[in-house]
Amino acid sequence: MFFTKKHVEDPGLNLDQMTGEISFIQRSEVESQLKMIHLTTADLRVINSLQPFVIEKIDYIVDRFYENLHYEPILLKIINNHSSIERLKMTLKQHIIEMFDGIVDDAYFEKRKKIANIHVKIGLQTKWYLCAFQDLLLSLLEIIERSKLIKSDYFHSISAVTKILNLEQQLVLE
Ligand code: HEM
Repeated sequence: MFFTKKHVEDPGLNLDQMTGEISFIQRSEVESQLKMIHLTTADLRVINSLQPFVIEKIDYIVDRFYENLHYEPILLKIINNHSSIERLKMTLKQHIIEMFDGIVDDAYFEKRKKIANIHVKIGLQTKWYLCAFQDLLLSLLEIIERSKLIKSDYFHSISAVTKILNLEQQLVLE
């Protein structure tokens, strides 16, 4: 598997068993968006290889995510008016794990459209969404940093994770 410490003589990444799929029935604009951020099926395989490590640390990521929202009282007010932290932790856990499925298709796109509508309805301003995303990115980078990867694998992992989070932001903030 990719996400393990490699010996110096190791030939490199082995992503053969990982999922990496981009498939749209008819969505030329999204395809251009993917091209412009250079997100490839190889990146998606790297993403998928990180999934077990994200699952292992999912409680840490999600607890930290909601703890971070305490800096701004208006966010807690929005949450308590529409849902609860405990309930949202469950949906966010599932959502983050799915982000690492390595598949970008119509269902992926539709789900982000729905999430975007939900956040518009609750009146969440873009700046708070972006703050929350940055915290999520930092959690993921921390997980990668604490792993025992060789140098080039760090680069591929960080590069792939920033691309998938960028795509998520493009779709949700459209
Ligand atoms: C709902 C993701 C930021 C408040 C959701 C759902 C997801 C999600 C997956 C569930 C959608 C569904 O039911 O299908 C995210 C992600 C964020 C983010 C990935 C940023 C990285 C925020 C922030 C707030 C927030 C900063 C702060 C107020 C809510 C609320 C709901 C919700 C209140 C439930 C709305 C309802 O059920 O009526 N979010 N969220 N989200 N999110 Fe977020």
